[in-house]
Amino acid sequence: MTAGIAVRALDAAEAEARLDELAEILVDAVASGASVNFLAGFAPEQARAFWQGQLAGIARGERRLLVADDGQRLVATVVLTHAPQPNAPHRAEIGKMLVLRERRRQGLGARLLCAAEEAARADGRTLLLLDTETGSAGDLLYRRCGWTEIGRVPGHALRPDGSLGDTTMFYKDLAAS
Ligand SMILES: CC(C)(COP(=O)(O)OP(=O)(O)OC[C@H]1O[C@@H](n2cnc3c(N)ncnc32)[C@H](O)[C@@H]1OP(=O)(O)O)[C@@H](O)C(=O)NCCC(=O)NCCS
Repeated sequence: MTAGIAVRALDAAEAEARLDELAEILVDAVASGASVNFLAGFAPEQARAFWQGQLAGIARGERRLLVADDGQRLVATVVLTHAPQPNAPHRAEIGKMLVLRERRRQGLGARLLCAAEEAARADGRTLLLLDTETGSAGDLLYRRCGWTEIGRVPGHALRPDGSLGDTTMFYKDLAAS
């Protein structure tokens, strides 16, 4: 269903050139009620600032930004961030797994997640971690893609509307799969 949509890495220069598109995806996610660190009223300038803050790490190879590109614009993102600790050269985190509302439930999230896992493997990062709101679409996606629940933290984060939500932590050991 997502034929014609390319999933690929963006380098820092292209990410900078496409900050508006990246910002639109993040603003859309917050507006959809997704618990992705930000609150209602989150504005495009704030989303641009978030992505701007990711650029140096991408340029240094400390994180990778993967996107889905329909040829007209970017429609989904995922970020793989290497653990910086000297004792964790095998570990990384997944974040900002976001698909534009109009493109959801077409398999794009699963495609991007697989691509992020492949990128992690290529980087020698075989133990992956992430967290997501308990019971959210992300929660269902990660289970579907073979991630293992670590546990649930009650009242871990505010949803965009200011109400408290639980967070479920997951891991995936690529060395074991
Ligand atoms: C989570 C998110 C990235 C999923 O992207 P997506 O492209 O819609 O997901 P996919 O179409 O690849 O779904 C793959 C599988 O995940 C599960 N899934 C995903 N979204 C679901 C939903 N809303 N309801 C039920 N199952 C869902 C299903 O098993 C689905 O397979 P199926 O369609 O064959 O049933 C998307 O809903 C999103 O951007 N949400 C807002 C941001 C967010 O919360 N991100 C996670 C933060 S950690």
